[in-house]
Amino acid sequence: MLDSDKKRVSRCHCIADLRRVAKRRLPRVMFDYMDGGAEDEVALHGNCAGFDAWRLVPRVLVDVDQVDMQTTIMGQASALPLVVAPTGMNRLFHYRGEMAVAPAAARAGLIYSLSSMSSFDIDTMGAATDGPKWFQIYVWKDRGVIREFIQRCRASGYHALCLTVDVPAFGKRERDLRNGMVIPPRFTPSSLLDMALHPHWWWKLITNEPMTLANVVGKAGQGLNDVTSLSQYATDQLDQSVTWDDMAWMIQEWGGPFAIKGVTCAEDAVRAVQTGATGIIISNHGGRQLDQAPAPIEVLPEIVDAVAGRAEVILDGGVRRGADVVKARAL
Ligand code: GLV
Repeated sequence: MLDSDKKRVSRCHCIADLRRVAKRRLPRVMFDYMDGGAEDEVALHGNCAGFDAWRLVPRVLVDVDQVDMQTTIMGQASALPLVVAPTGMNRLFHYRGEMAVAPAAARAGLIYSLSSMSSFDIDTMGAATDGPKWFQIYVWKDRGVIREFIQRCRASGYHALCLTVDVPAFGKRERDLRNGMVIPPRFTPSSLLDMALHPHWWWKLITNEPMTLANVVGKAGQGLNDVTSLSQYATDQLDQSVTWDDMAWMIQEWGGPFAIKGVTCAEDAVRAVQTGATGIIISNHGGRQLDQAPAPIEVLPEIVDAVAGRAEVILDGGVRRGADVVKARAL
């Protein structure tokens, strides 16, 4: 970490502090893309409110001299019951992007999950850290590309695949529409002015290697390696006909630990177990997809009951503090 970054981060004591720094440091377009949700952002806010609805009732006079939070997640050791969730295009927010986050996760003893839409590719990130890694994947129209991703994950030592199933189409993220953060970008004059007023951000962007969607470079067609063409390619690859049969196919192709990410009801969790998933990630995509989806913490107990120990249950969305992890574990 650079000294200037260290100084800023030393003033951060919680996720809300980091969010405040990001809001100050990033152009509005980038901040809103990271921070925003779909439509009225009901699901986004519900994710945190769901945790706030619970209180912790401590049992006193228990010997807590030695506290060991180590656990295993999908068969891998972890220092905490916490996984770094997959997020795309990290270099939009910091020029080092995933290259900063993954080694930090390894140093903290945590599992890192790489997004299909990452700004460094599967192989580069495989070599960048020897910490435990998962790869987030979609069933794209071109199953050949998916097979290739799976091969590369295997070759680069990824332990688990995590199939995202809540993006048959992108959510209607109205902050992005207003800011012109669409494909191709249609930045408004005020967005462009705002970017210009963040010289640190754009200077880092233009003086480092160009931002890209590294996993799909070369796949959009001859000479179409600019980030707009690659984003268009990835969007066109979303397959609205995907069903449980495709998940079964992917589980067979992979043959290892496999989590389904984007489940919000007990029926789907049971179906996922029957189809062969070894992990169920309860998620509404951080409120970025279906705005009326339930908060993961609300549906956690019924999903845990329905899964009945046949797969690991992981929760994603609204986690802002250790206390939230404790609430999720307690439920
Ligand atoms: C990608 O998964 C996103 O939510 O932007």
